[in-house]
Amino acid sequence: MIQCRGITKVYGDFVALDSLDLEIEKGDTFGFIGPNGAGKTTTMRILSTLLEPSSGTATVGEYSVLEHPEEIRKLLGYMPDKFGVYDGMKVWEYLDFFAGAYRLPKASRPQAIADVLELTELSQKREFFVEALSTGMRQRLCLAKTLLHDPQVLILDEPASGLDPRARIEMRELLKELTRMGKTIMISSHILPELSDFCNRIGVLEAGKLITAGKVDDIMATLQSDRRITVKLLREVEKAAEWLQNHEHVSDLDVEPQKSILRFAFSGELDDLALVSQSLADPTYGLIGFEEDKTDLEDLFLKVTEGIVR
Ligand SMILES: Nc1ncnc2c1ncn2[C@@H]1O[C@H](COP(=O)(O)OP(=O)(O)OP(=O)(O)O)[C@@H](O)[C@H]1O
Ligand SMILES: [Mg+2]
Repeated sequence: MIQCRGITKVYGDFVALDSLDLEIEKGDTFGFIGPNGAGKTTTMRILSTLLEPSSGTATVGEYSVLEHPEEIRKLLGYMPDKFGVYDGMKVWEYLDFFAGAYRLPKASRPQAIADVLELTELSQKREFFVEALSTGMRQRLCLAKTLLHDPQVLILDEPASGLDPRARIEMRELLKELTRMGKTIMISSHILPELSDFCNRIGVLEAGKLITAGKVDDIMATLQSDRRITVKLLREVEKAAEWLQNHEHVSDLDVEPQKSILRFAFSGELDDLALVSQSLADPTYGLIGFEEDKTDLEDLFLKVTEGIVR
């Protein structure tokens, strides 16, 4: 659905994007991760036909950003990272303004506006002035605007930035709903753990270069050599620790006696791990918790990016 081939963007003598290759399939929810200044917004603006690449080609659907930008704009919704200033405009007027800009037929605008207000749970705020909305509501309104022409492809630049935890969860639910509706979504964020449970693929960008891209699980598997296990017991923690200490596949053991928690790295196969859980299930210990720690995208991000500052 989205393809970048050797996209380079230069500002003066500064290379913001360096020969970027990227592929996003139809129906994918693609998380675009990278530190500040990596080039995420630049890439997204190029795909949304708001910025021309210095060299290279990109296509959305089967259309080239350079040759058929107007076709791309019909099938793509872009949510920028900044919300413009719209003083004195009511929520529905704001949406009506953009419905006009998207050239939606006049007769179908009221329904389109009602639909996006409902989807973003803003129907109650229809008559509010835009400046009277909270940050979270404004983000939802911005997304509502992006959805007006029912685009197949969504490019969302940090839609969760500035939101409180509850608003983040709501935004995430909304994005999951859009995924279920079959949209192809590209979403950028620094708040990485948020992406992991609904993006099926991610790409990590650093200093204008794509460092890694692929399925979330695959990337995690290549980076995660040892499993990290956390065990919780009711009693005899020291004894269990002593036993684990001598296990051939256990390393990096950490004991929290007050909480009766043991943490360790495990290098064996899953069958070996099953044997460990069986041994600890002995009534002596009162095993009440045995689980593998999940590497979240935050850790992944720190592992794959070197923290190049520019
Ligand atoms: N119009 C411009 N003129 C000069 N340099 C620019 C321009 N736009 C972007 N840049 C530079 O290109 C680089 C990439 O910027 P971009 O906004 O794409 O990064 P980003 O990954 O979106 O960062 P953030 O996480 O902070 O949003 C930055 O170093 C930025 O300073
Ligand atoms: Mg940005």
